[in-house]
Amino acid sequence: MSVRIAPSILSADLSNLADEIAMLEEGGADWIHIDVMDGRFVPNLTFGAKVIESVRKLTRLSLDVHLMVVQPENYFDDFAAAGANGMSIHTEVSPHLQRQLNRIRELGCRAGAVVNPATPLTAVSEVIPDLDLLLVMTVNPGFGGQKFIKGSIDKIRRARQLLSENGSKAFLEVDGGIDRKTIRSVFEAGADTFVAGNAIFAAKNPEAEIEELRKRATAQA
Ligand code: DX5
Ligand code: ZN
Repeated sequence: MSVRIAPSILSADLSNLADEIAMLEEGGADWIHIDVMDGRFVPNLTFGAKVIESVRKLTRLSLDVHLMVVQPENYFDDFAAAGANGMSIHTEVSPHLQRQLNRIRELGCRAGAVVNPATPLTAVSEVIPDLDLLLVMTVNPGFGGQKFIKGSIDKIRRARQLLSENGSKAFLEVDGGIDRKTIRSVFEAGADTFVAGNAIFAAKNPEAEIEELRKRATAQA
């Protein structure tokens, strides 16, 4: 299975975004992960359409937008117009998930659903055909640099099984605390797309860390 690395710019030096994005490209990043937080669904506040638009001008890489916001549908049109390639919405705040996912697709974006650590996978089991991506959070969202929740490994395994059983080709993404130590077990459990913020931007050589993570995901023990 191929490994996709999606650096999160939450941990980037935002005063130097152009250089940071260029560095990620040089390092071989597959997607750029953009964490949108509204101060309501999660305590923190981050980016909106303006920043997505700015990142769009800096790269041709796929922009993987993670909406940690209530009423995510309010942002779909603006984010798609700003250049998002994928939008992932939290099941915890998406009562009309099937409709919301299909709206994202209509806008030409990959439709993703996200489950928090406490949210069971049954939250998505009825919408598998509507999913282009399933994101299993491996920390409680809101901040970068948190510790990977170990119990997530079994959940990722079950998520992989759920997708396979339903013949889904959706990406299985993980987000939170992914680093050199955790990436391999997560890959083995069936994840194929790995968000990493702190592990990349706090590394001595952030550019090289992308390949290091990719290598460690599949390395033989
Ligand atoms: C957490 C965000 C993550 C975060 C990951 O709320 O959704 O994307 O940036 O950061 P690390 O890799 O530092 O845990
Ligand atoms: Zn994220």
